[in-house]
Amino acid sequence: MQKSSIILALSALLVALGALAASLVLSPGNQPGEVVSSGDALVGGAFEATDHTGKRVSEEDFLGKYTLYYFGYTYCPDVCPAELQVLSAALGEVPDAAEKFQIAFVSIDPERDTPDVMKDYVGNFWPGTVGLTGSAEDIRKMAGKFRVYYAKAGGEQQAAGADDYLMDHSSIVYLMGPDGKFIRHFPFGTSAEDIAKALKGVAKGA
Ligand code: NI
Repeated sequence: MQKSSIILALSALLVALGALAASLVLSPGNQPGEVVSSGDALVGGAFEATDHTGKRVSEEDFLGKYTLYYFGYTYCPDVCPAELQVLSAALGEVPDAAEKFQIAFVSIDPERDTPDVMKDYVGNFWPGTVGLTGSAEDIRKMAGKFRVYYAKAGGEQQAAGADDYLMDHSSIVYLMGPDGKFIRHFPFGTSAEDIAKALKGVAKGA
């Protein structure tokens, strides 16, 4: 995404966090004001998508390993490739990373990011990187579960049919456990060193 879009994305994140905080207090089935101690399922959950080999997959295909979910798009000029490089560098520091970890790079631009495009793209990064794309509806639902914001940059000014558009999107890495449950996130700008340290800690407890 464009650097000028980061503020917009952060604003969307704050709105999402506000909704998240509200949902903690007012979860369906709970009495108003009742404290809900479990944060399970606030981020992530069931999804369906198409991987970079063209196979239909769901959240169950990502169980058994720690998964770093990152939402972006292959045409992204700066933020996405930089973040995937950071994750690749971090995983390169973790012993036996391939046995314990995987990256799921989810396209928020499924219109252009076909499985073939995703396959070429993920080949540039850490070997355990899976590219996910799908129908616009697949991605809308999945992004919703991960509270990811995305939109075509330029909005109404975007020329209809133009294929050189940019996307605005939030840039957050979500770490999910082998059971598919949310463990923590890494905000944009977290260094490879800090991520590696965190992943080593998580893997040690596995
Ligand atoms: Ni990007």
